[in-house]
Amino acid sequence: MQAGAELAIIVPTYEEAANMPELVRRLDACLKGVQWELIIVDDDSADGTARIVRELGRTDGRVRCLQRLGRRGLSSACVEGMLATTAPFLAVMDGDLQHDESLLPAMLAALRQEGLDVVIGSRYVPGGSSAGLQGQRVSMSRVAASLSRPLIPEDLNDPMSGFFMLRRQVFDSTVRRLSGIGFKILVDFFASAEHPLHFRELPYQFRSRYAGESKLDAHAVWDYGMLLLDKFAGRFVSPRLLVFLCIGGLGVLVHFAVLATLFRGLGVSFVWSQATATLVAMTGNYALNNEITYRDLRLRGWQWLRGWSTFVLACGIGALANVGVAQYVFDQEAAWALAGLAGILVGAIWNYVITLVYTWRGAAH
Ligand code: GDD
Ligand code: MN
Repeated sequence: MQAGAELAIIVPTYEEAANMPELVRRLDACLKGVQWELIIVDDDSADGTARIVRELGRTDGRVRCLQRLGRRGLSSACVEGMLATTAPFLAVMDGDLQHDESLLPAMLAALRQEGLDVVIGSRYVPGGSSAGLQGQRVSMSRVAASLSRPLIPEDLNDPMSGFFMLRRQVFDSTVRRLSGIGFKILVDFFASAEHPLHFRELPYQFRSRYAGESKLDAHAVWDYGMLLLDKFAGRFVSPRLLVFLCIGGLGVLVHFAVLATLFRGLGVSFVWSQATATLVAMTGNYALNNEITYRDLRLRGWQWLRGWSTFVLACGIGALANVGVAQYVFDQEAAWALAGLAGILVGAIWNYVITLVYTWRGAAH
């Protein structure tokens, strides 16, 4: 019988087809004597990454593919890759060969011998470099790191690193507390761990991409903000709910802009103006929530339309609940503004919970 791998290398991918054969070649060359497996977690890339990986797996049983449908996100991909392996040592590495795979044996040795929880490939300790990072990205990376400072150990030089290896026990005891949002899974581990993690940084030189393009865009920056929000305040309130409520507030402005234009500006009847404003605001809110709040579960094509109809239905019922609750509070002799606020709050939470379950999560399964 063949024993399971001792080291699993988890590689999240989105459109990295051209890098896959070279990645496997290099791992094979540098991990002689180690029982390893490669788990590619691909978010249904259009360039056929998953297909290529499965083809590689036909001739090399150490290569595995976990393909996710209707999902996006580097961190959540890594978490699911780790859940899919039995290996006691877990490494995370990018699929574009910017991380130096030849560091893996030293990382494994350090983790084994020194009783460490996590070993990090670092660009910012002597011997390391971030040469492969474009100028603007270097300063962005530093700003991002400084924002996370309260969450991570002071002497960790490269918390933004996407290249590290940890013990299975660390993962098992942390996984339920991870936020799993966005790109910065290492920050997530440090901020979520039960006990301070024993770590060591090993220098490496961050290279340029082998093929393809970076996926880190404005959305990744937003996701990072959400990760920090969740880590700082997530115990009290979900960041998704906060964003949902802000977009709801924006919807009120949209509503009044449309209403004023139609009713005051164009002389349309009040009922029609109000109905149109409601529909426009709902649709706008739906589109924004789909792009921002639920970016990782974003609906497209027919799913977008289906999602729109459940959203409008849910918010319609939410409006009834809003009026009902407000009326009830008003009848208790409360101030009218307080009654109005109570209605808005209950309606908004209803909208949030119902659309979370039926519009976005419902479509994801
Ligand atoms: N499954 C999945 N889903 N993978 C993704 C997604 C996604 O939504 N977005 C990106 N990836 C994969 C890419 O295909 C690549 O293998 C890896 O995640 C890193 O993405 P890049 O687009 O190459 O990011 P980068 O080079 O700009 O930044 C990387 O290096 C920095 C320095 O170490 C990331 O690892 C950063 O987190 C890191 O700070
Ligand atoms: Mn990259």
